[in-house]
Amino acid sequence: MFDLSEDHRNIQSMARELAREEVLPGAAERDRTHAFPEALVGKLAELGFLGVFAPEAYGGSELDLLSYVLALEEISYADAGLGVIMSVQNSLAGWPILSFGTHEQKLKYLTPLATGEKIGCYALTEPEAGSDAGSQRTRCVLDGDHYVLDGTKVWITNGPQASIIVTYANLDVESRYKGVCAFIVERDFPGFSVGKIEDKMGISCSSTSELVYEGLRVPQANLLHQERDGFKVAMATLDGGRIGIAAQALGIAQRALDLAVGYAKERSTFGKPIAKHQAIQWKLADMKTRLEAARLLTWRAATMKDRGERASAECSMAKLYASEAANFCAYEAVQIFGGYGYSREYEVERLYRDARITTLYEGTSEIQRMVIAKHVLS
Ligand code: CAA
Repeated sequence: MFDLSEDHRNIQSMARELAREEVLPGAAERDRTHAFPEALVGKLAELGFLGVFAPEAYGGSELDLLSYVLALEEISYADAGLGVIMSVQNSLAGWPILSFGTHEQKLKYLTPLATGEKIGCYALTEPEAGSDAGSQRTRCVLDGDHYVLDGTKVWITNGPQASIIVTYANLDVESRYKGVCAFIVERDFPGFSVGKIEDKMGISCSSTSELVYEGLRVPQANLLHQERDGFKVAMATLDGGRIGIAAQALGIAQRALDLAVGYAKERSTFGKPIAKHQAIQWKLADMKTRLEAARLLTWRAATMKDRGERASAECSMAKLYASEAANFCAYEAVQIFGGYGYSREYEVERLYRDARITTLYEGTSEIQRMVIAKHVLS
């Protein structure tokens, strides 16, 4: 069904080479130290992987979503923490500016994101607006030629490093999502600060924090799209973002499968390699089947978006299925490794922790089911 073009295969092998030669060797160490992988982020930039969708005029690679999915799976295969850094930069920070920004906004903000000169993030989630993203409580008030923002965002991936923050705030909390506006905030704007940094279970080299806005003044020129149209910017952005998380999940699932296959051939019990036991074979067969199904859903969603179709339900199906497949594959890989799989010495233990986030961020599995059900019933 899917025949990758030569260009797609080239992107895939470029990403695979970087991932296996330069990303994989330090992944366990970064998991332990939680160190932000600055040098590797620089390598992603050199390959054009931080501005995948941005036109060349704005410093990007001008590639399609399928290319992005292929590259992101490879990077996440080696280190899902680096994968999410790449995903947020492209899908959540760059994409809304590309799709809704003015030429001036793109020149000023998309270009440094695409070249990797600056890190970006997406500030939607709040303490009381996680799954219910429409209940934005961060306030914005127009004051002369500036908007003044007050509020706190939480769980912001790349928050501690980001200089360009796509931020959502509400003109009128009573009207819920209908008052939401999207802004491009710079880290240096007075009134901005980074709050608590989260100590996470996995994807440890990416950092996640609170962002605090206290009387933060944003020039009117930094309003992204129209006043009160911010929720649509947020939701349209998440459609593509969810494809990115699906690709990240594919990388984790593929790595779990490869490690499990290798171990099953080496480890013997009852006088033969465990790969010869049907109990193990069935696990490997189920892992492979779910992984391939997830990959097809993800490639299909990406291809639909590349054709310019609205594909919200398909993006949610890809994210739902791939994230649950990644958890399944990581779980079964630990099971195949037995007690060793429970040790930090073995990579499957990290994959198990890294996989866990994929059913949570960019919409929980329950939220994906809501989006899919709405489509089915419409
Ligand atoms: N594209 C464009 N517009 C969309 C849209 C989309 N995909 N989805 C909804 N809209 C529009 C609707 O058409 C509707 O517009 P009208 O008023 O003109 O009809 C409007 O938005 C409101 O839509 P809903 O009624 O569906 O809104 P809702 O309040 O019921 O919420 C939801 C829908 C899907 C549950 C949404 O709140 C949601 O996605 N929640 C999860 C939030 C989420 O994923 N957060 C992730 C944070 S980012 C992150 O995790 C990053 C990271 O760390 C890596």
